[in-house]
Amino acid sequence: ILRTASRPFSVAKLQSVSSMAEVMERVGSVKQQLQRLFGEALRDKFPDELDIVPIITPCKDLRHGDYQCNNAMSLFAKIKGRVPEFKKPQAVGQAIMDSLPDSEMIRGCTIAGPGYVNVTLSTEWMAKRIHKMLIDGVETWAPEPPVQRAIADFSSPNIAKEMHVGHLRSTIIGDTLARMLEFQNVEVLRRNHVGDWGTQFGMLIEYLFEENPNWEAAPTEAIGDLQGFYKESKKKFDADSDFKERAQKAVVSLQGGEEKYRKAWAQICETSRREFDKVYLRLGIKLEEKGESFYNPYIPKALELLSKENLIEESEGARVIYVGGITRPLIVVKKDGGYNYASTDLAALWYRLNEEKAEWIIYVTDVGQREHFEMFFAAARQAGWLPAEEDKYPKVSHVGFGLVLGEDGKRFRTRATEVVKLVDLLDEAKNRCKAALIERGKAEKWTGEELEQTAEAIGYGAVKYADLKNNRLTNYTFNFDQMLNDKGNTAVYLLYAHARICSIIRRSGRDVEELKKVGTVDLAHPDERVLGLHLLQFPEVVEEACTNMLPNILCEYLYNLSEDFTKFYTNCQVVGSPQEISRLLLCEATAVVMRKCFFLLGITPVYKI
Ligand code: ARG
Repeated sequence: ILRTASRPFSVAKLQSVSSMAEVMERVGSVKQQLQRLFGEALRDKFPDELDIVPIITPCKDLRHGDYQCNNAMSLFAKIKGRVPEFKKPQAVGQAIMDSLPDSEMIRGCTIAGPGYVNVTLSTEWMAKRIHKMLIDGVETWAPEPPVQRAIADFSSPNIAKEMHVGHLRSTIIGDTLARMLEFQNVEVLRRNHVGDWGTQFGMLIEYLFEENPNWEAAPTEAIGDLQGFYKESKKKFDADSDFKERAQKAVVSLQGGEEKYRKAWAQICETSRREFDKVYLRLGIKLEEKGESFYNPYIPKALELLSKENLIEESEGARVIYVGGITRPLIVVKKDGGYNYASTDLAALWYRLNEEKAEWIIYVTDVGQREHFEMFFAAARQAGWLPAEEDKYPKVSHVGFGLVLGEDGKRFRTRATEVVKLVDLLDEAKNRCKAALIERGKAEKWTGEELEQTAEAIGYGAVKYADLKNNRLTNYTFNFDQMLNDKGNTAVYLLYAHARICSIIRRSGRDVEELKKVGTVDLAHPDERVLGLHLLQFPEVVEEACTNMLPNILCEYLYNLSEDFTKFYTNCQVVGSPQEISRLLLCEATAVVMRKCFFLLGITPVYKI
């Protein structure tokens, strides 16, 4: 936190994306502001303990306060005896509290238990902050960026093989992490590290040449269904040893850059790409493909650098790296002299650190690949490419996730053997939503386009949310009925909740833009204050979700927000009450924050239902 707080805010970068007039005054999160205040108090009172980082957390029980500072106990343990003035941790807490600079954001503090400093925020200040957000935009709440540039390596299916539900998870999780980083003003390079290189291409190309001599005239037709094409060529490869030999020669020709082979390779990639794009289009995913082939020319240099550090050794004809603690070595050059997944990832890491100057690189794949990542990360640390301390920048993180299971508790498949086609899966989600909307009589009320768009927003949103709301490390069970339920913690419920808030505002007949100008926000009722506090915590929740790379934290926040709103709406009359204007503004603030959550989760909001 201290590191990020001390990093000068890059105005130059903002200028490149928006004109200077649009550069907003950023206030950071409430937590960050309290950290600053308590940081001052700690430095002031304990000038010899400059390495102390203020620990601020929201209070679990709102009766005690809104936030608490938890430094007293550990600080007491550190200075005990050295500073006779402090006989108990409570005294340390008291001293911190007494040194807290005056601030309009704090109404009062108390000491509790073994020295916690409980902070109650000023309700007026909270209200003003919410009002200001309505005027200046929720972007002004963005936390300080942890780094300037990050890389999100996600989705990354393999050419000619199927894009399976694992890739769907990677796509959904990776996209939301990228969005959260972007919200914090981090520049994110979204990388699709597709598997487009390797020995299987020899087989595919040779098969294309032999079975479809006309391939150049009509490449897409020649390849047809790529998965089938892959299966057929593999069959031939395994059964026919002469073909196998020719396929191996084809790899050499491809890697040697022979034009005909490059062309066939490019055609096969293009056919795959078109399939992948159908999924990205439905999900609204933006991603730049830099496949394995891109890094191939960089491998020799990367390996040379590792060699210079004496990291590479010979083992059973292969070249390997031994990394601390793991007995199995990381193979970087195979026995036949070829490169592999690991050498490609090492070269890609080198490129990303040195050419793209990324300070944080996240890799989103299933947990099954954890060891691969741990090993090449360790190798890079040993080579000095990355700092020895894992939490220092430049930093690499493997964001692992569990399996998608079917109703039977086994790996998700539609039929016994076949994998699910992602496009079909997404279409089914949409079609089920469309049917539900038609059943509710929307076909008569809405235009065809409205019906389509709403069905897409809800259907695709439901698939994304069902995935994101779980801790990514756990396996999750794919169930249409559950994810499309309009009750409970589902995207459908949340999208409806948002639409309902919008309709409250619409039906009031008031112009919110006008209300923002003439009205003020007031949080006098306890349920208004609880809702207001929850709204204010939005930026720090994004920060936490992002730091821990856990999108479920944001989902939980969103769900609780809708609960707090329901409580407020049940207990506080909005339209027709004396507080109508303020309460409509609170409705609007809730809708704005909900929409930002949807946006960060990659879900398209709906405004009417
Ligand atoms: N193509 C790989 C797979 O399907 C995922 C690649 C992940 N990214 C990476 N840099 N290794 O399993």
